[in-house]
This record gives sequence, structure tokens and C-alpha cells, in this order.
Amino acid sequence: MESIWITDVSPRDGLQNQAKLLSTGEKLALIGLLVAAGLRRVEVTSFVSPKAVPQMADAADLLSLVIEQFPQLQSTVLVPNPRGLERARLAGAGEISVVLAATETMNRKNINQGLADATQNCQDTVRAAKAMGMRTRAYLAVAFDCPFEGVTPVLTLMALAEEMQDAQVDEIVIADTIGSATPGKVRDCLKVLGRTIPMNQLAMHFHDTRGLANANAWAALEAGIRRFDASTGGLGGCPFAPGAAGNLATEDLVLMAQGSGFQTNIDIGGLLEVIEFAQRKIDRPLGGRSYSWLALQKHKSDLGPRGLSQGPPDS
Ligand code: COA
Ligand code: ZN
Repeated sequence: MESIWITDVSPRDGLQNQAKLLSTGEKLALIGLLVAAGLRRVEVTSFVSPKAVPQMADAADLLSLVIEQFPQLQSTVLVPNPRGLERARLAGAGEISVVLAATETMNRKNINQGLADATQNCQDTVRAAKAMGMRTRAYLAVAFDCPFEGVTPVLTLMALAEEMQDAQVDEIVIADTIGSATPGKVRDCLKVLGRTIPMNQLAMHFHDTRGLANANAWAALEAGIRRFDASTGGLGGCPFAPGAAGNLATEDLVLMAQGSGFQTNIDIGGLLEVIEFAQRKIDRPLGGRSYSWLALQKHKSDLGPRGLSQGPPDS
């Protein structure tokens, strides 16, 4: 059976936008539940300016604790610049992501640099991280549309992906930051990117603003993508991109992938526990498109003989 690899980004993309701040201990507990559910890759935090994103001010403490308590977990962290990389290195990071938005305005809103400077900054940060022996990812944000500049031409995306390849980045993450992609656009985009970038070097990062995230993930799967970002309960959104809703929910992706013959090694019952914990802590309801159905099945069968992963048919 073929596998897909999911990076759960709920502790970073999910929590960076919440009005309610979680304590370091609560974040650690959330990550512990993700690990218990079978997640092997988690984006733990970001080493950004605490003035820009106060929710991530405890990045160093949190990452050190995660490495100590979950040594088997492949932790990844976002860094916006060499300063963030240095903070991440001191906390023990083994993998980092940089964020390069595809437009001038989005980079200015996000990291206070124009496109040319942001590209140089991301290349320098990736090269420095590689020299430190780290694995590296580069998000290409607003990959389909920018809330400020409209449609992102696929050739712009391609050019930025090639800039990151020049810096020897390990993985390029195509990020639909505002959730405007459609399956047709995903197919067309990957057809172009696939001319020079191997599918196994790409990951997809969808937001579910218009309810199409899982359909987009399916289009990406059909195009040969096997790496996805997702966030349990659909927690998420970008504070700098107006209209960005939560991420593709991990439980929706797992349900779709497992039901279509892909292995994830993730237990949906465990994800429900993550959702219940997170919604208590942030004080608002969470859950992707499948959550109410999954919760009902759990209530009816308390997982039942087949378990939630197989998804017993509704009757
Ligand atoms: N971590 C912590 N502090 C940092 C930092 C980092 N990675 N980079 C810069 N700073 C501090 C500087 O030391 C300075 O502090 P001071 O005001 O106490 O002197 C302050 O932030 C401003 O530094 P400057 O280099 O002028 O940065 P800026 O104001 O142009 O902001 C970023 C640039 C990148 C630091 C900021 O925009 C940021 O953190 N953005 C993150 C956005 C984000 O997380 N987006 C979501 C992910 S998609
Ligand atoms: Zn995102």
C-alpha cells in the first residue's frame, strides 16, 4: 500500500492566529496528543518576532521540551530570517521552513521585505541551515492567489521554486494561503511545476476557506504528490493574509486517504482527542468537514470493531 506523509501544522499555523494564547505546557500537551495519534511530523512553532506574533513567543522553550519529550518526532519550525534560524539552532532544531510569498505586497505584510529581498533572505537562510546540517523546507505562500495582488501566475511560482532549488532546499511547500485553489488549478499548477521539480520534492499546504481543501488534496494526490500539511480540527489561518481560514483538517485528509488505499499510520480516534482538547483550550468549536460525522460514529460505537479509520458506512 502506498503511503502519504502528513506534517501537522496545528501548533504553528493553527495557534498563531488564535485570540486565546496557550501556555507552553498546553502546547506540549497538544503535541503529545498528536504524537499519540500517530503523527510523525509536526510543525511545532515559529521563531518569529514576538511583537509580530505573540502566540509564538515561547518558541525556544517549547521546541527544547518537545525534543526532550518526543525524541522520535520529526519536529519542524518556521524561521523568517537568519536571526530566527540562530534562535532555532540554539533550541536544537533539526529542520526549518522559510516563507517566501509569491508577491511583493504579501512579503511586505509578512516579513517587511519586498519580493527580491525576501527571495535573497530565504535563500541565505536555507543555505545557512543546510550548512548547520538541518533539513529545510521553503513555503511558497499565496501560490494560487494573493489577497492584495490577485492571481499568482504559475510561471512566477515556478521561478521562485527554482530560486529555492538553487539554494538546495530539500522540500518546496506550495501554500494556498487564502484557500482559493480548485482541483483544476492544482492539476494545472502541478503539471507546470512538475516539468522541473520532482513530485517527491513538493508538498501541498491547503486552507479550507471555500470547502475545497480536500478536493484539492485529491487532485494533488492524483498528480503524484505524497506530502501534505494539514491541521487537526482545521485549526489555523494567517494573521497577515485577510480571509485566510483554517487549514485542511488532518482528520479529513486521513479519512479520504485511508479510504482511498493510502496508508497514513494515523489513528482518527486519536485525532478526535486532539480536537476536543484544542477546542477546550482555545474556547471555540473546531473540526473539519468530517468532524461531526466522526464524533457521532465515536459516540455510537466508541470506535467499534473496525475503528474510525475505516469509516463504517452511515446507515
Ligand atoms: N525572532 C525574534 N525577534 C526578531 C527576529 C526573529 N526571528 N527577527 C527580528 N527580530 C526582532 C529584532 O531584534 C527587533 O527587535 P527590537 O525591536 O527589540 O530591536 C525587531 O524584531 C525588529 O527587527 P527588524 O529586523 O527590523 O524586523 P522587522 O520589524 O522588519 O520584522 C520580522 C521582520 C521577519 C522579524 C517580522 O516581520 C516577523 O517576525 N514576521 C513573522 C511573520 C509570520 O510569522 N508570519 C506567519 C507565517 S506565514
Ligand atoms: Zn497556512
